[in-house]
Amino acid sequence: MILADDEKAMLDGAGGVAKQKAMELLVRYAEALGAERLVDTNNIAGVPGSSTLFLQKYFEEHAGDGSFEAVFSLYDLDAAEVMSVPKAAGNCCHLQGGMDLEHWADLGMSREALEHQREDETELARHGVRIMKTCTPYLAGNLPVQGEHCAWMESSAVVYCNSVIGARTNTEGRESTSAAILTGKIPDWGLHRDEYRRGTHLVHVETTPVESVMDWGMLGYFIGGTVEENIPVVTGAIRRADPLRHKHFGAAAASSGGVEMYHIVGVTPEAATLEMALGSRKPAATIKYGAEERRRVYETLNANGRDPYVDYVMLGCPHASIDQFREVARLLEGKKIKTHLWMFTSRAVKTVADMSGFTKKIEDAGGLVMTDTCSAIARAVPKGTKVVALDSAKQVHYLPAMVGVEAWFGTTEDCINAAQTGRWTGELR
Ligand code: F3S
Repeated sequence: MILADDEKAMLDGAGGVAKQKAMELLVRYAEALGAERLVDTNNIAGVPGSSTLFLQKYFEEHAGDGSFEAVFSLYDLDAAEVMSVPKAAGNCCHLQGGMDLEHWADLGMSREALEHQREDETELARHGVRIMKTCTPYLAGNLPVQGEHCAWMESSAVVYCNSVIGARTNTEGRESTSAAILTGKIPDWGLHRDEYRRGTHLVHVETTPVESVMDWGMLGYFIGGTVEENIPVVTGAIRRADPLRHKHFGAAAASSGGVEMYHIVGVTPEAATLEMALGSRKPAATIKYGAEERRRVYETLNANGRDPYVDYVMLGCPHASIDQFREVARLLEGKKIKTHLWMFTSRAVKTVADMSGFTKKIEDAGGLVMTDTCSAIARAVPKGTKVVALDSAKQVHYLPAMVGVEAWFGTTEDCINAAQTGRWTGELR
């Protein structure tokens, strides 16, 4: 590997032992990937040093130290000793976590876990980490520019970062993002490089235009399942590209497959033309998405729903945008719901929702707005839940298997109807 002078110095210990360990980890990682060099990054989204009560107790028991610095050293950096962890070298934020600090009891968490979470956040802030606690950092104030090298975890955020913003990141892990936080470096490999950002598979949309958020989610789910870890180039009848639709499309494609980047011709920044999106190469396959494929993906997403009596409606996967709050508040205004309804978002978006009166309307109807986490990450649904209604293809993919529930998939309006009547009546229109 070719290392720059500042990288060599860190490796030799000039920045202290924690930076040295971080650099050693990055060099090992880069060599395993076949990367020839590292690249500078000043935008990192990870979960540095954070731990659950379980992890803290594990390190207490096995290493005699369950502190933030111990978890960061032994777990994040894979070091053999507990080191003093310096402040972050650049801009970094914490992604989603395991609990809401206000509604922790509804999530089935203990007061002890809450106290631990608070201590964790104090340490994060002390180490210069912005506590965004969201899977949608791009909606909460962390918005890189086109071409910027980032080091992000969270598949739905990674695909948005690459495809919609045109910034550059691979799907990093906890160890690599924590090492990047201390060094400001990440392997120059994969989606950091032009040659790996070109489309590989062509998907032509030949159905009634893909326009609704639900349709964007279904198309993403179909594409992920079809192209797996490749880079799709989408053409045809796809309309109303906006952040909300991209959010649902990318999250679904990253769940049913491993899509980290997509192009939509004439829409996404590296796909002004088909030729640009494909890099003048022939696609490995051309795939059609028509009425039949659309019907099949809808059936797949509803395959797990049998009982029409819904107990729980979960909204906000990926974390809800302010537009979604406005829509849900409009649908619920002056109404009362029969089921549980939890809506998840970031603290930043919730603050705007609170000030805009949206949270109050949702809560007056009987819903709860939570931040930082979601039912899948917290592995928590309201007590006794057997049947859940969802407007996110990604959440349908994960939640039933994680918490053992049946799930229905539809529009946000279908979900709100289910919350009001207690019955699922959604259908493909
Ligand atoms: Fe976010 Fe949870 Fe969905 S972390 S992307 S809301 S699974």
